[in-house]
Amino acid sequence: MFSRKFQSCAQLMLATVMMSFVATAPARAQQATAKLPNVVILATGGTIAGSGADSTTTVGYTSATVGVERLIAAVPELKKVANVKGEQVFQIASESMTNAHWLTLAKRINVLLASQDVDGVVITHGTDTIEETAYFLNLTVKSNKPVVVVGAMRPSTAISADGPINLYNAVMLAGSKEAVGKGVLVALNDQINAAREVTKTNTSTTDTFKSTELGMLGYIQGSKPYFYRQSTRKHTLESEFDISKLDSLPQVDIVYGYANMNRIGMDAFIAAGAKGIIHAGVGDGSVAAQMKPALVEARQKGVLIVRSSRVGQGIVARNGEANDDELDSVVSDTLSPQKARILLMLALTKTNSTQEIQRIFYTY
Ligand code: SIN
Repeated sequence: MFSRKFQSCAQLMLATVMMSFVATAPARAQQATAKLPNVVILATGGTIAGSGADSTTTVGYTSATVGVERLIAAVPELKKVANVKGEQVFQIASESMTNAHWLTLAKRINVLLASQDVDGVVITHGTDTIEETAYFLNLTVKSNKPVVVVGAMRPSTAISADGPINLYNAVMLAGSKEAVGKGVLVALNDQINAAREVTKTNTSTTDTFKSTELGMLGYIQGSKPYFYRQSTRKHTLESEFDISKLDSLPQVDIVYGYANMNRIGMDAFIAAGAKGIIHAGVGDGSVAAQMKPALVEARQKGVLIVRSSRVGQGIVARNGEANDDELDSVVSDTLSPQKARILLMLALTKTNSTQEIQRIFYTY
């Protein structure tokens, strides 16, 4: 009798405990999900969304064929590090990225990051111009929340495709406290690079992205970011550029330096309406004797000249290989020609003063 009573009492207690567990389980699960950061993935195309004829196709595949929902579904592990939502912003190979795409993207990111419900943004992107998009966003995003641009060197259909792990790392990084205030980041191959310094160094290998002499910011290991340094140039919240009301940018083109260079390209760009020219000179941004009259005439027409270098490393010295005071030109500091183009376009939305634009080049 006693034991039967005890048994039923024990059963009742067990049932009560079970019921309370069952009742609170969804609430607990919800709490755990709520603790994860909310990250939006903006997909733009590229090899990360590419597909090849078979699993060994790592060149000659088609970029930008896989949609954002399939990219997300291919990495179920994303759910462990963030609450993820996807948006297909464009579906293009990144060599076709234009100023108009950048303006659309930056505006969308600014809207998303202004919301309290979004903790970070990841942009999936082709690797060919990833460094340019990242630098443009570095100068135009108005938030200190993490923005991570990611791509892949192998299409999604390849053996050992690098897209899934790169996307997982990027989402984790975009949801991390460590990435707050670091400016726009480019994360591939377990490495974190600053938008200003990173560049593609190899046409096809997965370790292609380097910040060369200035160095990367850190690593990703075991689902955690490790930062060791920071870019010292202004970005994001400290940037003076506001694209919110712009629907185009001033035309700026790049003329490439080489032995036997001539002025045909530069004159053609100016005739086609260029407001600025990046002169990607040899060495320390040297200007060939036959190019000097073209530069002088360009300034007389009000076209801004920035002396950059095709070398890829080092500071272009003001009044070094050319007399910038006399030419009324600007030097690019350490910016590559393709990034100098971006900064000059944005600078020209604010001013035509060479002194002011030189200050801008020493600031960003
Ligand atoms: C592209 O930039 O869209 C193609 C190349 C790549 O993503 O690696």
